[in-house]
This record gives sequence, structure tokens and C-alpha cells, in this order.
Amino acid sequence: MKYSNDNEQKCNIAIFASGTGSNFINIYNHILDGKIFANINILISNNPNCKAIEFAKKNKINYKIINKFRLSNNENIEKVIGKVLIKNNINLIVLAGYMKKIPKQIIELYPRKILNIHPALLPKFGGKGFYGIKVHEAVINSGEKSTGITIHFVDNDYDTGDIIYQKEVDVLENDSAVSLSKRVLELEHKSYPVVVKEFCDKYRKELN
Ligand code: GRF
Repeated sequence: MKYSNDNEQKCNIAIFASGTGSNFINIYNHILDGKIFANINILISNNPNCKAIEFAKKNKINYKIINKFRLSNNENIEKVIGKVLIKNNINLIVLAGYMKKIPKQIIELYPRKILNIHPALLPKFGGKGFYGIKVHEAVINSGEKSTGITIHFVDNDYDTGDIIYQKEVDVLENDSAVSLSKRVLELEHKSYPVVVKEFCDKYRKELN
């Protein structure tokens, strides 16, 4: 289904990303194609040099770099993030490779409205230190025959929030961490927009 550009109120999304931003770009393209009824009102990153920010600059997407080096003495990260989210009327936060912990105050401000995607079947291979290629290396070293992706709500710990969606991927005999990571990422690109769309549709029904 493609959404027409009508006057109904859209779900305002803030994406948080620190790296390549392929999930961010993928969701952005789904919105652009009218497949998700939403706006990306802002991209928030801690990393001024990441590809996600580069893409935002090129495509004139509103962005904000927030990290401790950019704060003045009387500011703290949670207050600055909170202010940016409120100023941009954000309804949903989508984490897409964001490498920092979401402050408790922000989780309280957006209960069950912060989504994250993790490249394994949580609770396996999750928690502090399980990020990027390390996740896939751990899967290969464990000898597991399958892995997958998890989309979950964000709570106060790493990768422990309620699970919304999981999907499995086979680990092949000749897989390396890199080959496995590519298949898992493909699955992320198929799945994350579906979950984001569901949230935005629900929001649309409640509001319009
Ligand atoms: C993805 O593998 C995601 O599961 C994890 O971080 C990675 C982000 O990739 N949370 P990208 O920056 O969206 O390409």
C-alpha cells in the first residue's frame, strides 16, 4: 500500500545513528516512496563523521550532533536530547546503530516508543560489548546453526527491552563473520521498515 500525501498528521520520527546508517537510509527511502506514513524530523548522532550524517547533509535531512564534547558547562546530554525531541514534536524514536546508551530520562519521556534493532536472536549475543561484527564473530565461534535479528523496545539496559519481532537466519558451514553479517543486515532492511510502519499506522489510527 502506498500512502497518498494527504493532510492527516504523520508520525514524527527521530532516528539515532552513529555509523553507516544503512537502516536509517532504508527507512528514509521507504518514507520517501510513500510506504511508511511518517516524517523523519531529525537524525541525532554522537558522531559528526559518520556516514549517516553525511547522508543527512546531502539529502537536507535535519540533524543534530550531540556528544559530551559539544556541551557547554551547564548542559547535560539527557536535557539536550530531551529538548531536541520535544522541539521536533517527536512521536517515535528509532535507533539504527546508535552506539550510546539512551538516558533514563528519555526512556521515561517515550515509554514503549523507542525501538532498537539488534543483529542476533536476543537474549543470545546481546548486552554490553555485543555490537557490530563482534556479534557475528561470537555466533560463529559458538557453533550455533542459526542466528537472526531482533527488534525490541528500549529499556534501561542494553538489549533487554520487550521483544517486538524476531526472525531467524541460518548460519552456513562456510560462513565467516563478514558473510553472515551481510545476510543478517539484508534481513534487517526487510524487517525494520515493517515494524516502523506498523507503529506509524497505529499512531495514525489513534490520531486521525
Ligand atoms: C545493525 O546491524 C543493527 O542491528 C545494529 O547496528 C547496525 C547498524 O547498521 N544495532 P547501519 O548503521 O544501519 O548500517
